[in-house]
Amino acid sequence: MRRSASFFQVLLVFTTMAGTRWPNVSGTYCKDMSSSVYRPHSVTITEFGAVGDGVTLNTKAFQNAIFYLNSFADKGGAQLFVPAGRWLTGSFSLISHLTLSLDKDAVIIGSPDSSHWPVIDPLPSYGRGRELPGNRHRSLIFGSNLTDVIITGANGTIDGQGAVWWGWFHNHTLNYTRPHLVELMYSTNVVISNLTFKNSPFWNIHPVYCSQVLVQHLTILAPLNSPNTDGIDPDSSTNVCIDHCYVRTGDDSIVIKSGWDEYGISYAHPSSNISITNITGENQGGAGIAFGSEMSGGISEVRAEGLRIANSLHGIRIKTAPGRGGYVKNVYIADVSMDNVSMAIRITGNYGEHPDDKYDRNALPMISNITIKDVVGINIGVAGILEGIQGDNFSNICLTNVSLTVQSPHPWNCSLIQGYSNYVVPESCEQLRSNCEQTPVCYDGSSYSEMRTQAPTHKHNFSLLLNPLLKLATL
Ligand SMILES: *[C@@H]1O[C@H](CO)[C@@H](O)[C@H](O)[C@H]1NC(C)=O
Ligand SMILES: *[C@@H]1O[C@H](CO)[C@@H](O)[C@H](O)[C@H]1NC(C)=O
Ligand SMILES: *[C@@H]1O[C@H](CO)[C@@H](O)[C@H](O)[C@H]1NC(C)=O
Ligand SMILES: *[C@@H]1O[C@H](CO)[C@@H](O)[C@H](O)[C@H]1NC(C)=O
Ligand SMILES: *[C@@H]1O[C@H](CO)[C@@H](O)[C@H](O)[C@H]1NC(C)=O
Ligand SMILES: *[C@@H]1O[C@H](CO)[C@@H](O)[C@H](O)[C@H]1NC(C)=O
Ligand SMILES: *[C@@H]1O[C@H](CO)[C@@H](O)[C@H](O)[C@H]1NC(C)=O
Ligand SMILES: *[C@@H]1O[C@H](CO)[C@@H](O)[C@H](O)[C@H]1NC(C)=O
Ligand SMILES: *[C@@H]1O[C@H](CO)[C@@H](O)[C@H](O)[C@H]1NC(C)=O
Ligand SMILES: *[C@@H]1O[C@H](CO)[C@@H](O)[C@H](O)[C@H]1NC(C)=O
Ligand SMILES: *[C@@H]1O[C@H](CO)[C@@H](O)[C@H](O)[C@H]1NC(C)=O
Ligand SMILES: *[C@@H]1O[C@H](CO)[C@@H](O)[C@H](O)[C@H]1NC(C)=O
Repeated sequence: MRRSASFFQVLLVFTTMAGTRWPNVSGTYCKDMSSSVYRPHSVTITEFGAVGDGVTLNTKAFQNAIFYLNSFADKGGAQLFVPAGRWLTGSFSLISHLTLSLDKDAVIIGSPDSSHWPVIDPLPSYGRGRELPGNRHRSLIFGSNLTDVIITGANGTIDGQGAVWWGWFHNHTLNYTRPHLVELMYSTNVVISNLTFKNSPFWNIHPVYCSQVLVQHLTILAPLNSPNTDGIDPDSSTNVCIDHCYVRTGDDSIVIKSGWDEYGISYAHPSSNISITNITGENQGGAGIAFGSEMSGGISEVRAEGLRIANSLHGIRIKTAPGRGGYVKNVYIADVSMDNVSMAIRITGNYGEHPDDKYDRNALPMISNITIKDVVGINIGVAGILEGIQGDNFSNICLTNVSLTVQSPHPWNCSLIQGYSNYVVPESCEQLRSNCEQTPVCYDGSSYSEMRTQAPTHKHNFSLLLNPLLKLATL
């Protein structure tokens, strides 16, 4: 009797998990990622003295709960549940094999006291804080050297209360670079899903030196005039899937990075194998999808499909400068719609912004194999401003089936670039006038498709098998 009940329970666990796996994510490594890892142990933050009144500081409760859950890491991992309420906290750190799960009416609120956000070393690939020399504030939710981490909820909220940080930024009273809402460093098998992020002090989601990262079903909001509130910033990371997100902030919605000038060049951690699908973005000072300006470790094999960009400064943007070194190559962007966008496509070779004056002026970036196709835009200011670098032409820039309703009488302005175009309205600039269907040089994302069919099975499959057995063992 007991045995059959247990057997039924195993079946039930399998069925439940199968039902919550997400379909329709491009890239085999994306499909193999899942937020449905079963955790045999779960605690609620109130068991550790947390009070959800929006006033009590709960940093210690989060830290104590996570410290306690460490003892379950080798037993299939554990879940920390945050129920309905307003949970004020300073920065806290996650551990491996942890699910942080929010109720739909849970709001984790970042403390407006900067001393609740500890100061940590700069990233090795940046050499200093991004905004100010020296150290930087640690993110609200932080993790380093982790594996198997899930941050999720039924659309619960993480609110950074960034207004106070934007004020310090504007009146130049910050002592250190502003913190992100979530930063994970040197981590693998990370899922961030089904949440709303609001009012980040700085960037929202920053995976850096990570691999196997799934970011899905997020709403990311910040006032359109808030400074540098990027949405999702994969940085020196590989095998990253970003799907099904709505991002409305002051700066870039999705932006891929890989370190800054001489620090990024010597750290040499590229971003590659990045899949981006079904993103809706609005911004005031950024782009729907951007690359750089920190790209010194290199960015390649990026495929973005299904982008809706509205009411924004830029649609698609590459930012770089002499001194960056590195590369942006093998990028395929397709199925894009834009409405009310000032500059639909922009490539900037003179972005500037150097960490210090020790950068190598001869370190020129290589920008090549950039394909942009199937784009429709209305209410567009300028179609494209595409500028390379003297002595460093950007090459194989290919535009196919791009149809834009443009206000400017000079829709394209190109310099120091070479490439191809086909079915582009209004007619593209002279530098792109060759026809790409007759030239085999346009990058078509096919090396990526090949990768997709060859992707190895992800190890979460193993945990799916393992965890129910552990559950059985605990009965
Ligand atoms: C985290 O991983 C990095 C890269 O592998 C390593 O350099 C660092 O020492 C690790 N940190 C800790 C605390 O283990
Ligand atoms: C999640 O919450 C945000 C903010 O309240 C809302 O705009 C969004 O539509 C919600 N998403 C889902 C999937 O319910
Ligand atoms: C700077 O901004 C902060 C945050 O908005 C505010 O508390 C502070 O009074 C301002 N300081 C000055 C000198 O304006
Ligand atoms: C900067 O440091 C000073 C001196 O320690 C401190 O009073 C101030 O609150 C700090 N400002 C911020 C924004 O953290
Ligand atoms: C996340 O949200 C999506 C869409 O609302 C839903 O299909 C999925 O089951 C949710 N996943 C979890 C783990 O709640
Ligand atoms: C794309 O994502 C939005 C939310 O950002 C969702 O409402 C919509 O159903 C998604 N479309 C597809 C085809 O998955
Ligand atoms: C574009 O701007 C017009 C005029 O301001 C507005 O009516 C329209 O809704 C905007 N489009 C989108 C997609 O927001
Ligand atoms: C051109 O792009 C539009 C918008 O993505 C798409 O609907 C259309 O099918 C494309 N045309 C061709 C011939 O691929
Ligand atoms: C094109 O851009 C250059 C600067 O890169 C500028 O000097 C020139 O006036 C622009 N041409 C048009 C027609 O806008
Ligand atoms: C660089 O590109 C321009 C067109 O933008 C072209 O005239 C020039 O010859 C190219 N230089 C090299 C070295 O290929
Ligand atoms: C550009 O793509 C083509 C295939 O389309 C490939 O042969 C070539 O090596 C790529 N160039 C670079 C710089 O990776
Ligand atoms: C990119 O994906 C391909 C196919 O899955 C894989 O062979 C390659 O190792 C991946 N690159 C990185 C840096 O993980």
